[in-house]
Amino acid sequence: MMLTVEGLSKRFGGFLAVNQVSFEVREGEILGLIGPNGSGKSTTFNLIAGNLRPTSGSVRLQGKEIAGLPAYAICHKGVGRTFQIPRPFRKLSLLENVMLAAYYGGAGNIGRAEALRSAGEALDMVGLPSDATARTDGLGAAALKKLELARALATKPRLLLADESLGGLDSTEMERAAELLNNIRTRMGITIVWVEHIMGVLMRIVDRVIVLDHGEKIFEGVPGQAAVDPRVTEVYLGKKKT
Ligand SMILES: Nc1ncnc2c1ncn2[C@@H]1O[C@H](COP(=O)(O)OP(=O)(O)OP(=O)(O)O)[C@@H](O)[C@H]1O
Ligand SMILES: [Mg+2]
Repeated sequence: MMLTVEGLSKRFGGFLAVNQVSFEVREGEILGLIGPNGSGKSTTFNLIAGNLRPTSGSVRLQGKEIAGLPAYAICHKGVGRTFQIPRPFRKLSLLENVMLAAYYGGAGNIGRAEALRSAGEALDMVGLPSDATARTDGLGAAALKKLELARALATKPRLLLADESLGGLDSTEMERAAELLNNIRTRMGITIVWVEHIMGVLMRIVDRVIVLDHGEKIFEGVPGQAAVDPRVTEVYLGKKKT
């Protein structure tokens, strides 16, 4: 098992943003994590990746407990993540942004040449220019998402937590983003958890899907089952009138 999450909870004051969530991710799998706005998807990622400390619960990466470790340590152990709201270093080039991830995010000490090579590969993989002159200004939502992915890939993850939420993308861009995640899994052998609040495109790519609502897991299964599950359709489409 790549990732085992057990009884994970996060309380902000009196508000339970993530409530006793448990799930597993198998090696080589793409798992979809969906749910409406505010259902706790990004918070779950923040807990796994160490950007937030869990209030309670366990997170194991290939059997080893990582819950509560700082983000850099979890990154060094092989968990890469993207952020829903990209915040690149605007004064640096694309290449430098990704090189920083390669320098500081990877497990071992690498030199400049190795960071450069790693960053170039990651940018090629996502389809962004890898020459030293390409800048972040003028990048649209889709390109910024790709840059997030390149930064995560440059840390050489075993597990990638992709907080895509492709809301700002048009349908062609969404298709491409889905295709890219699929390629990252098949060509690079990276296990992926993909967060999204729109079901459509995700459902065709993922092996299994988990649905959160108000911080709780309300469904786990294959995409075909999710589409006909009464609780899932209620959350997404509203309750059926009787
Ligand atoms: N640092 C925080 N302090 C207080 N409340 C927070 C904090 N972070 C998130 N929340 C709340 O926790 C809930 C879950 O937020 P989260 O960002 O995990 O939702 P999400 O499922 O990622 O939503 P979206 O689809 O809009 O990205 C929301 O009600 C949010 O306002
Ligand atoms: Mg979110």
